[in-house]
Amino acid sequence: MQQHDEPTERVSRRGFLRGAGASLAAGGVVGAIQSDKAGTATVEPALQNAADVVALSFVLNGKPVAVKVRTGFTLLETLRDHLDHTGAKLVCDYGACGACTVLLDGVAVNSCLVLAVECQGRKVETIEGLAVDGKLHPVQEAFIAEDARQCGFCTPGMIMSCKSLLDRKAAPTHQETAEALAGNICRCGTYFNIQRAVDRAAKAKAGGR
Ligand code: FES
Ligand code: FES
Repeated sequence: MQQHDEPTERVSRRGFLRGAGASLAAGGVVGAIQSDKAGTATVEPALQNAADVVALSFVLNGKPVAVKVRTGFTLLETLRDHLDHTGAKLVCDYGACGACTVLLDGVAVNSCLVLAVECQGRKVETIEGLAVDGKLHPVQEAFIAEDARQCGFCTPGMIMSCKSLLDRKAAPTHQETAEALAGNICRCGTYFNIQRAVDRAAKAKAGGR
């Protein structure tokens, strides 16, 4: 398992804001779902009796989930294909881009490199869990305010890495931010905007938000 940082709503007047919510999700700032799905998911019926299928439970965005997985499933495919949490993206699938970043017990990890079975009894946080009661997390708000995304494909992973950084460092230097985000690649080159977003989020958090 690679850890790339160490002890590193929607309101609606229907049409407009539904559209705005969809736009935010497409931009990667908010997960594609605000999921309440915390039930039981399973592998395909044909695989139910496979010798390598195991029952697994962990806490996903504050809610217990139970899922049956094959022992070789990654956390990323379990989230995306079996728990309908598609915010974390599959890009390189070998730990090189950070698009799949989620927090495992508070530490940013590449979920494409984490086996699902490693998560038994642990806490997993994804982009879908950041907003609370429709209120975006300060990092999400800062990404919007600083226009810190273009295509948005790297954005969920970037935001989770930024959250992890700010959870352990209230006012990171630019060097510390660069180091914490070194495992997250943005093909659109929004790094300066992301730096400004981290600065803005740090100030917002210091102000009690
Ligand atoms: S998809 Fe996991 S690091 Fe690229
Ligand atoms: S916003 Fe396009 S890859 Fe980062």
